[in-house]
Formats: sequence, C-alpha cells, structure tokens
Amino acid sequence: MSIISEKELNYWLEHVRVYANNGKVADYIPALANQQPEISAAAFYSFDSECNSAGQVEYTFTIQSISKVLTLALALIQHGESAVFSRVGKEPSSDPFYSIRKLELEEPGIPLNPMINAGALAVTNMIRGRTSDEMVNEMLELVRRLCDDQSITYDEDVAKSEFETAFLNRSLAYFMKQNGIITGSVEELLDVYTKQCAIQMNVKQLARIAAVFANDGRDPNTNNPIIPATVARVCKTFMVTCGMYDFSGTFAINVGIPAKSGVSGAIIGIVKNEGGLAIFGPALDDQGNSVVGIHLLEKLAQEKQWSIF
Ligand code: DON
Repeated sequence: MSIISEKELNYWLEHVRVYANNGKVADYIPALANQQPEISAAAFYSFDSECNSAGQVEYTFTIQSISKVLTLALALIQHGESAVFSRVGKEPSSDPFYSIRKLELEEPGIPLNPMINAGALAVTNMIRGRTSDEMVNEMLELVRRLCDDQSITYDEDVAKSEFETAFLNRSLAYFMKQNGIITGSVEELLDVYTKQCAIQMNVKQLARIAAVFANDGRDPNTNNPIIPATVARVCKTFMVTCGMYDFSGTFAINVGIPAKSGVSGAIIGIVKNEGGLAIFGPALDDQGNSVVGIHLLEKLAQEKQWSIF
C-alpha cells in the first residue's frame, strides 16, 4: 500500500496551494510566461505501482531542468564515470543555475556540476548521435522507458521559444567550446538542450520517473533495470547536493530527500525504499523553485519523516 493516500495528498496540496501567490511564473523563456500560476498537481508513485494524485493531474508541462538528471544518467550509461567527470565536476556551485562567473574562476575550467546550465550543456554534448535529432531520440527513448509511455515527446513551441532566446546558454556553450570542453556545433547543442528541457508530461508520468530512482534504477512495476544502480546513486547524490540550486543546503535541512526542480514549476522527490513524488506549480521563488512544491515537500517530509539524514 502507498505510504501516502490520495486523501492526504489532496489535503496537503489544498493546504499549500495558496503559496502560489508568493511566487512568479518564469518569463525569461517567452512560452513559459503563459503558464497559469494557480495550477497545481502532485502525484506519488509507489513500488506497488499505485499512483495517488491530487490537483490538475492530467495537465502537461515541460520538465526543464529535471531533464539534467536524465541526460546525466544517459551520459553515464553511454560513457562511464571517468569520461563524464573529465568534462564536468562534482561540486555544488552556490551560484544561480545560469551563472557564468565560476567557469572562468575555477580550475581546471570545467563546469562545477551537471545541474547548473553550463554543466548540463557539457553533459548533453556527450550524448551519442551523429545529428541533433539522433541525440534527442536517444534521450526520448530513455524517458519513454522511465515513464513506460511511448507517447512522450517534447513541446515544440516551448523548445523553439527557448532556442530563440537562449543567449546566455549560448554564451556558456561558446565559452566552453573555446576551452575544449564542448565539441561540435553550438547551435546543434542548443537544439538538443532546448528540446530535452521541453520534454512534456503530466505529474503522474513524472512521479514514475522519480519512482525508478527511488527503486535504484529499476522499473517500479517489473523490477527490471532501466538505469544501472551505480548511475542512479550518482544522480541521486547530485540531487541532494545541487538539485535545488543555491537552495540545496536549506532544502537538505528542511526536507532531506534527493530532489530536482525545473523552471516550469515541476519538482521530483525521491523517497528511499518507498517511491517517487512529483509536484507541479509554476509560481517560482527567487531561486527558481516552485513555491507550492517546496511547501508541499516540507509538509510531507515532516509529516512522514522522509529525511534521509
Ligand atoms: O536552461 C534553461 O534556462 C532552462 N531550459 C532550464 C533551466 C531550469 O529549469 C533551471 N531550473 N530551475
């Protein structure tokens, strides 16, 4: 039986929905500025394949930076740890996710970790494929297995809107290309990156992805491996140290579970030995995390004593 009932999830979501008034929808990607701040949804996918959900559960959104965990998993599967970590570091940054300054300050000049934009661009650059379409397909194939849903794809309008306005990400990529961290065409890299960020799903599908990580990389229904346990462990560790950007330390104290957010307002949370939680609420705080999501995670983690610390 799931550790969290639909009734409980409804109760707590109803309780924290009002916090949406304290946040602001991301608008630096024009297509995201249209999101309705009052929409909220949550789902918990447990190992017995039960998925309890609350709010606007069929509403679809783009996963944005949550994709960084998934490209990291794919790059680790395809190339192994030593190759991946020769081009991206393992340390938290304490800077905003889009920051460029430490790229120049830190030696040996590789991005600090795969959860900031510079690091994610370096990781995406490693995905196998002769063309950007092939790279996107590799990514979609993994996400479809994680969701157990072959219909998963990306939102073309959101991808295009980000591609047309991603000047800062282009700067990061060109800086890294100059330093030999990124190879090939920056425009093709941006094409893949903006499409991976625009992968679209609802909160139940996202909760299944979280459940795979909670189950050490195995399918929560069949127990068949999708991601090797060693790769899932590395991804979950990054979620703890860098998953909520420059809020990761406070989040580790207040909530204490591996989690990853995206500027669309989505968050995944990994509940050890139990299952995966996904929340959507597009109003963001100053660090770019969903305000409703953070409050819901704080309430649930306290109530259920989820902290791993
Ligand atoms: O690179 C960007 O700006 C976005 N596509 C993803 C950023 C993101 O979701 C950061 N999250 N908090």
